[in-house]
Amino acid sequence: MNSTVDFYYFSGTGNTKAIVDFVIKVLKIHNVRTSLNRMDNGYMPSNSANDLWLAFPVNSQAVSPFIWRFFRSLPQSNGTRVYVIATLNNSSYILEPLSTLLKNKGYLPTLACEISMPNNMLDGEASPDDDQNRLTAAYKKADTFVRKAIGGESSWNSEYAGSRAVSFLSRRTVLPWMSMRLMLRLRTVPSKCMNCELCVLQCPTGNIVVVDDLPYHGYKCDYCMKCAANCPRSAIVVSGKDNIHFRNARMHKSTMEQ
Ligand SMILES: Cc1cc2nc3c(=O)[nH]c(=O)nc-3n(C[C@H](O)[C@H](O)[C@H](O)COP(=O)(O)O)c2cc1C
Repeated sequence: MNSTVDFYYFSGTGNTKAIVDFVIKVLKIHNVRTSLNRMDNGYMPSNSANDLWLAFPVNSQAVSPFIWRFFRSLPQSNGTRVYVIATLNNSSYILEPLSTLLKNKGYLPTLACEISMPNNMLDGEASPDDDQNRLTAAYKKADTFVRKAIGGESSWNSEYAGSRAVSFLSRRTVLPWMSMRLMLRLRTVPSKCMNCELCVLQCPTGNIVVVDDLPYHGYKCDYCMKCAANCPRSAIVVSGKDNIHFRNARMHKSTMEQ
């Protein structure tokens, strides 16, 4: 492992960011420094031969379109090692297609893991016991992952089998995203919104604009849920689906870093 790694991540509801923060601490203990960047800010050209670390949430069995575009935007490489952490709930099919994409660009997919995290888009009540169990296992797995990386191990296996068909549609077509944009319309509740425009600033697809002093959610949403999970007033809801609510991983962070 190099003494500095280039680390790119994206986190919508905070799960991936919590794992990334933890991983960076563990890397530091092992004297590995991190150059941290957000995927939604694009790839920053780097002349060095640093290893590349990627961390992102699984969405619709694959990743949100803007994250897949980030992977596709990576420059050609001459054997840069890649380390991947995907956070998810329980099913995905992303490691294999990502490995293919990376290999085609000349990278060396070296070590990957999937980390199951609490769901932050809740339909009804949360389950504190389930959350706690996932978090305990998640931090243990992240720690093991770094130790394996430091020890020079390589493996690229998916633990949470998912739908190849849905993953294909998510990566290659707009179908899953179009149907979510139609069925799960996000809107801001006027009486709760305090016009801080945090949602506008944070949206990775530029989907939110202010119209008549109120954030308007357009039809470019990639369903990362960053807006809803970070709204200080929980003012962003799914239209017509009162049961669905959002939380940020900060809400369970106290139990996370143990
Ligand atoms: C719209 C949406 C779609 C999701 N799709 C999947 C999925 O297909 N498989 C899965 O295991 N988890 C899925 N999840 C759960 C997230 O991958 C998981 O909560 C992840 O840790 C979120 O990371 P973040 O908080 O960094 O955004 C989905 C979450 C959302 C909001």
